[in-house]
Amino acid sequence: MYNDNPTLSGLKKEIDESKQGEVFFNEDPEGVTVAGSKHFYIESYGCQMNFSDSEIVASILAESGYHPTRNMEISDLILINTCSIREKAEETVRKRLRIFDKVKQHRPGTLVGVLGCMAERLKSKFLEQEKLVDLVVGPDAYRDLPALIANAEEGDKGINVFLSREETYADISPLRLGSNGVTAFISIMRGCDNMCSFCVVPFTRGRERSRNAFSVVAEASDLYENGYREVTLLGQNVDSYKWENPEDSSRINFAQLLEMVARIHPDLRVRFSTSHPKDITDEVLHTMARYENICKYIHLPVQSGNSRVLDLMNRTYSREWYMDKIRRIYEIMPDCTISSDIIAGFCTETEEEHQETLSMIEFARYSMSYMFMYSERPGTLAERKLTDDIPEGIKKRRLQEIVQLQTEISLQHNQQDIGKTYKVLIEGNSKKSDQDFKGRNSQNKMLVFPKRSDLQPGDYCYVKVDDVTSATLIGTIVD
Ligand code: SAH
Ligand code: SF4
Ligand code: F3S
Repeated sequence: MYNDNPTLSGLKKEIDESKQGEVFFNEDPEGVTVAGSKHFYIESYGCQMNFSDSEIVASILAESGYHPTRNMEISDLILINTCSIREKAEETVRKRLRIFDKVKQHRPGTLVGVLGCMAERLKSKFLEQEKLVDLVVGPDAYRDLPALIANAEEGDKGINVFLSREETYADISPLRLGSNGVTAFISIMRGCDNMCSFCVVPFTRGRERSRNAFSVVAEASDLYENGYREVTLLGQNVDSYKWENPEDSSRINFAQLLEMVARIHPDLRVRFSTSHPKDITDEVLHTMARYENICKYIHLPVQSGNSRVLDLMNRTYSREWYMDKIRRIYEIMPDCTISSDIIAGFCTETEEEHQETLSMIEFARYSMSYMFMYSERPGTLAERKLTDDIPEGIKKRRLQEIVQLQTEISLQHNQQDIGKTYKVLIEGNSKKSDQDFKGRNSQNKMLVFPKRSDLQPGDYCYVKVDDVTSATLIGTIVD
């Protein structure tokens, strides 16, 4: 496929064909250059936190005169915001670097920077392994980017992977990239203090710290003023949010923050992610129930349905404890939907234990799940203390069984919505047809329905569900 001496258009084809991550762009979707300005291109991988961080990076770069573009061939700086969560995520990044290398050959002087979790995990090893990389910058060091870039322009490769106990970028107003103008993410905390034995995040993101509550509310209010109608509060473990006001030592927990954001305006929907089952409290559940605009949806990753495996994973809850939590959620909010993350084939998992994960999917009635094969990560507790002893073939088969069951449960879940009417926030055109809108209900299900000319993205409407697939509800607008 790749020709050794490609023309730029040949190169463009290769870039497009190999595109895997999300490419961000701003005002210049055609890749138009802004005279006299330098341009940066950024691609993001991994979780929403990374996407949110890319908007902080964009804001920092815009301040120092860089203009965003989605055309990497005209950019002076190519950035990739990376993820280390599974081996495959890292392989994808290395593939992308090969592509950037070609671009660099055509435009000598283009700088390539690696940001995010893989930068943090590999540190200076990156500069040794990947000759084309000019910058390696960890998640807490983005303020240093302009200085590192200036040095790199002089030929000095730059690295800053310092992890901070304080940095929350609270004062930086993110530059919304590739936004639909209706929904936005707000980072409310950084890092993670849990030590799930499979997980690399505590090593790549450092210690947990919560952002100033008033800066969160100010950012959400500002978004509302600018026409946005939904914010998602982000953190690896949002329920352990705690912020102490240095002025009067008063404390704000997650339930209180949620309420503060919900009170900005009844038309501003509030979502949050992710909840660790051990930390979500009745206070949070009651706050959700009290406010119509706090969406009735909880992403509550179980990881495994078996207590022994959960113990090995260091999740600090058992199967029974998790089931009680699920019962509690449905008791306080009967209309709430719950979703999950599930890992297949963790160290020493038996067939019986795997069956318990399957039965948990049925018990919890997840509307959907993110499902993965266990991937051993260097430096984690599991890598040091346990053996990754489930053969790939068995992991794959268990994952398939999980995916198949979840797809069935999702379909059943959606079928129960047929005939019901939901309040939907219109997000834009549906992927398949510009005659249809798409939008989500409070339960985070995506609905697709024919447009009505008096409505536009950012408006609410009521949609009656006529038909469903396992992933989407199909309906019509009703008055
Ligand atoms: N903070 C979130 C999850 C962040 S990572 C939480 O605690 O729920 C997202 C998901 O990736 C995890 O929930 C887990 O299911 C999966 N994951 C993390 N490490 C993994 C690994 N080593 N192998 C496979 N999946 C993993
Ligand atoms: Fe990883 Fe566990 Fe922290 Fe989630 S809570 S980021 S799975 S260590
Ligand atoms: Fe990946 Fe880092 Fe997020 S490892 S999942 S990008 S916190």
